[in-house]
Amino acid sequence: MQSPLSSVHRWVWRNARRRAKNLLRFAEVEADGGRDLVRAAEQTQDPLLRRLFLLHALDEQRHADLFRKRGLALMSTLPAAPEAASRTDWLTPGERGLDDLRVEQERDGALLAFLHLSEKAAARDFTHYIAALEGDPPTREVFEKVVHDEAFHMNYTRAQLLRVAPKDHGRLLWMARLRRLWSLYLRFAGALAAVIGAVVLTLQYFILLPPFALLARRAWAREPEGWTPIAPERNGQGGPSPLKRQY
Ligand SMILES: [Fe+2]
Ligand SMILES: [Fe+2]
Repeated sequence: MQSPLSSVHRWVWRNARRRAKNLLRFAEVEADGGRDLVRAAEQTQDPLLRRLFLLHALDEQRHADLFRKRGLALMSTLPAAPEAASRTDWLTPGERGLDDLRVEQERDGALLAFLHLSEKAAARDFTHYIAALEGDPPTREVFEKVVHDEAFHMNYTRAQLLRVAPKDHGRLLWMARLRRLWSLYLRFAGALAAVIGAVVLTLQYFILLPPFALLARRAWAREPEGWTPIAPERNGQGGPSPLKRQY
């Protein structure tokens, strides 16, 4: 039996324009994650981690290229006229990587714990997307290539976390979970604020605007039709001619 989540994923990925937009968004997030990893490689004092972070960054850049290429190919098959496709970022977040973490301020252990959880979530989500993409084999193939790397990222970050923080890895993982939860809350609060803003503006439009429209209509009804003569004093008769001065 299908889980409710897989039905949601099927719905999200069914629309071709939404599929293309999601892929292009994933490309940005992956490239951003790659840049964070290069920064992490510059910061760490551990030579093995530096090498692994650089390899990881190359993987994320390759994922960005794969997603961008497929997203653009899909876009090129769509009609030029924009067709409405609702945004589903919160339903299909893709890979979060270091999620705008300040890499410079983090120790290796905290970075590895955060990365491990991100890669684990990405591997899980991408597996769901693969199952939902049976109608689009080329896009499915892209995710199959990417998910293989994500599983490797998930495993190496855990192994390295155990190496650099053998006694502290449990606490670091819990801290990373709490931080991910906080980012999730911030994203949710941002989306909620956007919805509330849209509702308030719509209400204002329908409640505050009609009285002004009514007043304008009444004023317009009182206006005489056609050309109307203006008072002689405004026409320069009996006073200074308007052509002799600027105002
Ligand atoms: Fe990736
Ligand atoms: Fe990854």
